[in-house]
Amino acid sequence: MKVSRFITLEGIEGAGKSTVARTLHEQLRRRGSEVLLTREPGGTPLAEAIRELLLRRGTDALNAVAETLLIFAARAVHLDNAIRPALAAGKWVICDRYTDASYAYQGAARGIEPGLIDHLAAAVHADLWPTRTLLLDLPVAEGLARARQRGGPADRFEAERQEFFERVREAYLARASADPQRIRVLDARVDERSLAAAALAAIADLLPA
Ligand code: TYD
Repeated sequence: MKVSRFITLEGIEGAGKSTVARTLHEQLRRRGSEVLLTREPGGTPLAEAIRELLLRRGTDALNAVAETLLIFAARAVHLDNAIRPALAAGKWVICDRYTDASYAYQGAARGIEPGLIDHLAAAVHADLWPTRTLLLDLPVAEGLARARQRGGPADRFEAERQEFFERVREAYLARASADPQRIRVLDARVDERSLAAAALAAIADLLPA
């Protein structure tokens, strides 16, 4: 029988989430699993359109509550049209960010009270939490330096100051300490291959025999 698994990747900018997501995708497919590789905000045409609104700079000011509502609107669309159908079909889902990011970015960094995020999360996905979450952790200065190396103009989040990302990192680490069974912290300062190997090891117990 096919077993569906829901894996999410979290971390500050420049932690290497997308590379790890691609490697896990590749490794799982080689083992014969069907995999949906996706991201938040985004993952479907409508949710990607909401992502554009969230990341673009220089238009109307978008306050923290509006930002939070848009993120959960995108998540609801993504869940209905991509994540839930994939899980129901017995696929693995690897998602670059999910609700842990909302607690870290909108909650800890933007100052939205966690109670509002609890309510939105309950309304949008009830108890659909990832089977496992890999938190790619590294010092903020290193992450930001890596993200800057990627080049291109900074989006609305990337344009934030270092203190913002310090709050994001602390919140992620606190969530991992509170739920170490689900959220595994990986040291993201290592090279790409070592990080990919650590990520695979962190989901090894979930792999098909
Ligand atoms: P992401 O695609 O991971 O960007 P990057 O590859 O540059 O790290 O995510 C885009 C931004 O969306 C990221 O800066 C964090 C933000 N975000 C939130 O603030 N809350 C959320 O719940 C999610 C899913 C993302």
